[in-house]
This record gives sequence, C-alpha cells and structure tokens, in this order.
Amino acid sequence: MPMDGARLMRDRLSFIQNTLAIAITAFSIGQIFLHHSIDYSSNQSTHHTAHLRVPTVKFDALMLPPTIDGSERLLLENAMKKRSVWDDNIDPEIEEKRCRRYFTYINDTKLNTNYKAKKRRRVFLGSLIADDSWHALGALAMETYGIYTAVAFVESNRTQTGTPRELRFVKGTDEHNILTGSNLFGPNTPVLIEHFSYEGEIDGGGLIREHMQRHMILNMWKKAGMAPDDIGVLTDADETPTRDFLRAVQMCDMPQFDPEKQDCHTAKVIVASMVFEGSPECMTTTRKWMHPDMILGKCIEGIGDDQFKLNDMQRQRKFAWRKKQYTLKLGNYSGWPEEKKTFPLWNAADFRRDQGGHEIYFEQVDYLRWGMGHTGYHFHNYFDSTDQLRNKYMTYGHPIAGVDQMSVSEIHPDLDLMVDCVLGRSSTNNKHTTLSTQLKDFEGRVPIAYGFDEYVVARHNELKMILTEDAKVNNSTWHDTERSKDWYEKIPP
Ligand SMILES: *[C@@H]1O[C@H](CO)[C@@H](O)[C@H](O)[C@H]1NC(C)=O
Ligand SMILES: *[C@@H]1O[C@H](CO)[C@@H](O)[C@H](O)[C@H]1NC(C)=O
Ligand SMILES: *[C@@H]1O[C@H](CO)[C@@H](O)[C@H](O)[C@H]1NC(C)=O
Ligand SMILES: *[C@@H]1O[C@H](CO)[C@@H](O)[C@H](O)[C@H]1NC(C)=O
Ligand SMILES: *[C@@H]1O[C@H](CO)[C@@H](O)[C@H](O)[C@H]1NC(C)=O
Ligand SMILES: *[C@@H]1O[C@H](CO)[C@@H](O)[C@H](O)[C@H]1NC(C)=O
Repeated sequence: MPMDGARLMRDRLSFIQNTLAIAITAFSIGQIFLHHSIDYSSNQSTHHTAHLRVPTVKFDALMLPPTIDGSERLLLENAMKKRSVWDDNIDPEIEEKRCRRYFTYINDTKLNTNYKAKKRRRVFLGSLIADDSWHALGALAMETYGIYTAVAFVESNRTQTGTPRELRFVKGTDEHNILTGSNLFGPNTPVLIEHFSYEGEIDGGGLIREHMQRHMILNMWKKAGMAPDDIGVLTDADETPTRDFLRAVQMCDMPQFDPEKQDCHTAKVIVASMVFEGSPECMTTTRKWMHPDMILGKCIEGIGDDQFKLNDMQRQRKFAWRKKQYTLKLGNYSGWPEEKKTFPLWNAADFRRDQGGHEIYFEQVDYLRWGMGHTGYHFHNYFDSTDQLRNKYMTYGHPIAGVDQMSVSEIHPDLDLMVDCVLGRSSTNNKHTTLSTQLKDFEGRVPIAYGFDEYVVARHNELKMILTEDAKVNNSTWHDTERSKDWYEKIPP
C-alpha cells in the first residue's frame, strides 16, 4: 500500500532537516582556509544610485602566468572572455515560468513562487577566500557573470586554526589582478578584496576567528552601497547559487525578500546545493549541502536598523552567534521584547550558522521523486595537487593528524568518495554515492562552466593522473579504517 503522501513528505523533510544538521555541523569542519588593506574606491552612497568604480587594472587571458596551466587555464580563459550579460533583459514569459519552478515548504505546505513584474532586486556576494583553486573560483564566476552588484572577498594571513599563511591576493600580483581586473564576475561587477589580520589570542578559538573575518564582509557590503531592500549572499568561495535561482531571487515574489513582509523572524533563505567532489564527473547524488545563505539587507547587521541590533551580551561572545533566547530554533525568540515588531538583525555568524528561522528553497524537477531539485553548487576539494590538499587538511578547522602519512582516500570520507569516483572503484561502503552516468547524461541543472566539455574532460583526466600516482604509494581507503565505523555519529561539534 502506498504510504500516505503527507507523511512521506514529512519524512522527506525530516531527512532534509537531518541532512541540514549534518551539513551545518560539517561546515565547522568543512570550511577551511581561511589580510587590512582596502583596494576599492567607492562613494559610500546610500541607494540604487550607488556607483562603484571598477578597478582600473586590466588583465586578460594572454597575461595568465604559465603556472596556471592545464584544465584550470582552459576554464579561466573561458571565464575571462568579454561577453554580454545574456539574460539581463526581462522577458515576462521566461520570468513567469522560472518563478513557478521554485518552492519551499512552510508548515508542511508547498509554496511556489510567483512572478510579479518589477525591477530586479540587487544581490551582493560576500565570501571568505584563501587557497581555493581557480577551478572553484572560475566556476563560481561563470555561474554568476553579470548578476552581482558587487562581490566582496576577505582573505586572512592566518588559517582558521591560527597557522600563518602567505597572502595570495595581494595588490599587484597576478592572482589579485585575475580576480579583480579580468572581467571574471561581469563587465559592471566590482570585485573587492580586504585583508583580515588578528594576532592576539582569540576567545573562542578558530570558529570565532572565522566569524570575525566574515564580519568584515558586512562592512564591505555597506561600503558598496547595500540598502535594506538589497540581498546579501554569504558563501564560501567554492559555493554558489545556480544562476537560474539567482535570477529567481531577483524577480520572483519571495516574501523573505520583501521588506514589507520580512520581519527578520525567519530571515534566512537557504540554498540546497549539489556537491561535486574534485571533478565535474563526481557529482554526489545522495546529499545536499545547505549553503550558501541569503538574507534581505533589512535584517543584516550594519545595513538594517541599528535599534534591532543585538549587543555583545546577547551573543555567546563578541562576533559570535546569538544566545538561544534570540533564536527561533533554540529559544523561540523568548528573550526578545514582544513589542519590537522586527526581530534581531543577523550578524555574519548568525548568517552562516543555523540560528534563527530559515526557509530552504528547491527547484521543481521531474527526475527526483519529491521533485526537490538543487538550487546551488558546492565545488568541493578542487585542489591542484596532493600537497595542497594535505596542507588544507592539516591546517583547517579540525586538523587531522598524520595526513602526510595517509593516502588521499584515507584522509576523509569525502576524499574517499572522490578517489573511488575518479579511479572507478566501487563505492559500496561509502556513505554517499556519485552519479553513475556521465555528467552530460544528467537530467538536472549543471553548472554553466560544466557545459564546456573540453574543461570537464581535461579536469577529470588530470585528477585521475594525480590520484593514480597517490594510490601507488599507499592504496588504503577511509572506509576500511576504524574511524569510519562511527564517524557520522561523532561528527565534531
Ligand atoms: C564622494 O562623496 C563626497 C562627499 O559626499 C564628495 O565630496 C566626493 O566628491 C564624492 N566623490 C565621488 C568620486 O563621487
Ligand atoms: C506557519 O505556522 C505558524 C504557527 O502556526 C504561523 O504563525 C505562520 O503564520 C504559518 N505560516 C504560513 C506561511 O502559513
Ligand atoms: C598579518 O598581517 C598583519 C597586518 O599586516 C601583520 O601585523 C601580521 O604580522 C601578519 N601575520 C602574519 C602571521 O603574517
Ligand atoms: C513562540 O513565541 C510566540 C510569541 O511569544 C508564541 O505565540 C508561541 O506560542 C511560541 N511557540 C512555542 C512553540 O513556544
Ligand atoms: C598505508 O597507510 C596505512 C596507515 O595510514 C598503513 O597502516 C599501511 O601499512 C600503509 N600501507 C602501505 C602499503 O604502505
Ligand atoms: C591495494 O594494493 C594491494 C597490493 O598491491 C592490492 O592487493 C589491493 O587490491 C589494492 N587495493 C585497492 C583498493 O586497489
């Protein structure tokens, strides 16, 4: 007998919530690399008239250094091409269809978005940046070309664990010029980089360091002219909403982005991202990554009305997330004065963590039983060399001891999955599975960068060579280790 639909849906939702919990916990170990010079000039103007001067350094594909080679170069050359923003004109028919595709569940009820003719909302991107490869940065840029009003990156000269790291995006370097002066994010999208540094002891450790760093993004958005009716998209540099969803966010009738309806109680819109492990051909099909996050300017600290800002005592620590009584999930906002019609503003830590209320948006798709298609992408573990990868796993949030003695596959279940996928090994004992067919045969939406076959093939083959070499030294796998047995039950906090 078929199960009752509503119940199945609830099971499905609770599965999503569990996945969400895992994704959010995993975030604390998943985000990684995490210097003060401002290198943009803007007139901190207030509203839709804001005009940011695009940096004057111009960089083109012919100037790419020889160290950027192989598939990464192919991708960047493509991403740097001068082209128009092809979907900028508003065609009501297209917008209408688009809006009907997106939905969320509120109180167990499926709510699709609708199209109402209006101006596109402005969206601002903000992200930490470190040693993310151009594979991830190029794919992110191609996906969002011409959409963002401004893109803000923050780089630190220490990793999350406080380990010193050399700054990469220093003014005058190729890396800096590629990111800010090569048309990557669109002809009119300024790319801003600020450097975070903090040499003192940090009360609260790596996570607080990370949130301090992320907090700079909010100031950069403000300087770039973000207003209460604009939208902030907070990501890590290897995540992005799909272009189609970003367009929907700009045009569709989503109450979360309506300053009249949004009271900051359930301010966050969560993107359900499909995860690629190291290669376009290693799409994981059994999970979604619950980031990036989006919030209306009205509800963001620094942009919204200061009278609704929490003070340091109302937070776990300065720069940290809120105390329970100021969250929906953990305290039903019981500490917040009832007479206040707007709920507390969200700082960067609230924004990234699971704190207040949120809605998860999906794209309606036919190939999944419940139709809950992805609305974003996570380009995970797109490293260039195994040295780079090992260094990452030695210095990130929860460093793994002995990484230099392990095979790539043994380091982490995500890497295990990647190695099995790339080397064509069985993934039976893995926690997740990857797409069993080639990417070109996948029914759902794929990253714009991956419509470029030459890149897809080249990246996959390069990774295969790198991992084949690694497995020659030691071919042991993570799913054969003791740690694998109860790992999912013991995910670090
Ligand atoms: C920026 O604003 C200041 C004060 O509002 C003004 O004096 C200055 O001319 C402006 N600069 C530009 C480049 O618009
Ligand atoms: C969902 O339920 C809550 C509590 O019953 C209610 O306050 C809220 O208005 C409902 N939301 C919608 C969109 O129906
Ligand atoms: C980080 O940058 C700051 C500011 O430039 C500097 O004082 C500090 O020594 C740097 N720290 C490291 C580890 O390089
Ligand atoms: C949450 O708080 C609101 C307003 O104070 C109240 O109406 C509601 O019953 C509370 N919900 C729960 C689950 O405690
Ligand atoms: C591979 O590494 C594991 C520990 O990480 C070790 O136990 C094993 O002996 C190594 N195998 C080879 C063939 O070196
Ligand atoms: C690892 O290498 C050993 C010895 O060379 C071989 O017997 C084994 O099948 C290999 N395992 C995998 C997973 O490739």
